[in-house]
Amino acid sequence: MARDILNEFETIHDEAAAVDVAHKVKIGIIGCGWIAGAHIIEYLKMADVEVVALADLIPGKAEVFAEQYGVKGARFYASGHEMLENEQLDGVSICTYNTQHAPCAIDALEHGVNVMLEKPFTVTLDEAIEVMKAEKKSGKILTIGFQPRMSENIRMIKKIIDSGELGKVYYMQAGGGRRRGIPTPYGTSFIEKETGGIGAMGDIGCYTLDMLLNAVGYPKPLTVSGYASNFFGIDPENYPGHPEYAEKFGVEDFAAGFIRLEGGIVLDFRIAWAMNMDTCGDTLILGTKGGLRIPSMSCYNGDLPAPMKIYKNVAGKKVCFEVPKDEAPDLFFKKLRSFVDAIKNGGEATVSSKEIVINQAIIDAILRSNEAGHEVEVVIPEV
Ligand SMILES: NC(=O)c1ccc[n+]([C@@H]2O[C@H](COP(=O)([O-])OP(=O)(O)OC[C@H]3O[C@@H](n4cnc5c(N)ncnc54)[C@H](O)[C@@H]3O)[C@@H](O)[C@H]2O)c1
Repeated sequence: MARDILNEFETIHDEAAAVDVAHKVKIGIIGCGWIAGAHIIEYLKMADVEVVALADLIPGKAEVFAEQYGVKGARFYASGHEMLENEQLDGVSICTYNTQHAPCAIDALEHGVNVMLEKPFTVTLDEAIEVMKAEKKSGKILTIGFQPRMSENIRMIKKIIDSGELGKVYYMQAGGGRRRGIPTPYGTSFIEKETGGIGAMGDIGCYTLDMLLNAVGYPKPLTVSGYASNFFGIDPENYPGHPEYAEKFGVEDFAAGFIRLEGGIVLDFRIAWAMNMDTCGDTLILGTKGGLRIPSMSCYNGDLPAPMKIYKNVAGKKVCFEVPKDEAPDLFFKKLRSFVDAIKNGGEATVSSKEIVINQAIIDAILRSNEAGHEVEVVIPEV
């Protein structure tokens, strides 16, 4: 009898867990910008969470944020450090721009506080290693905010590979990217070197890397030949109404990398905030027994514009079938709930630093290779 392949990939939905309301988790938020809004909306839905403190470097921003989202009784601080010095917190959401991820995470861990750190992990590999040392010393939870991990569509990619249907995976080509989409709706914190530190790779490329690397078990990178450019970021025409942003642009708007991974897998990666093309194409995973086509997508929301397709040869015939796509609801709730549950139950980080340091090492190596003009080796120090 023929195998019912599709049912082997059947989705298992998360069950909503009952919460112990008597045990409240005290949370602080560092950085009250755009993404902090996504965090507070979800925390406020949790009967066992109290958001007790809000911090932002911009005077008055935390107070306005509390008013906007209806946060009652929170204390306000002029920096993450001041908050950590004055509060007894169970956990913090670090929602600062990228260059403040490492200092804030190290500070929180040194104060014995569990950390939900927004993506990207850090700006450089060295910073990621320093955060991991603080994590190890503290014994606290550090989880990195990759909400697509909560999407059934993204989980399905890993399930398909783990099922063996594709055989040995030897090549992965990353697609996606934006035609025009340099993120400046709320100012320039994503595009300045001082605040963003890294550009398209830290904003959206890190999602593609996580999707693919997680699917194949996060093998270590060995060598990287990388390229990065900024042709669109420095062009005032790309900022209608704000031509001055072009002079502030200090990161990459496009990057590509040819990455050799342990286990004989090659990753052909590219990402764009802007380019003269609609998309870098679909994401392809090639294995010895099958291939998977993932339609060009914005990985951050875990959604697919169309079903994924598996290509195989069956009894001498070329066959192709669709993997039914799922909805990807409540990703931010699931991401923050898993953090709160780990704090309450002594669990582990859902998205661990041990995995994401590899993601960071690749971004770091693409920029090093671009600077050097040749392939570079990747060595990730042990922590
Ligand atoms: N997971 C997602 O889907 C998602 C989406 C958007 C952004 N992000 C990430 O979230 C982070 C923030 O993005 P954003 O759009 O909210 O940026 P933003 O610039 O709007 O907000 C960042 C805020 O942090 C504050 N800040 C910086 N350092 C601080 C410190 N030491 N103490 C207190 N406050 C500090 C800034 O003053 C600013 O108000 C970025 O790293 C970004 O990559 C994640």
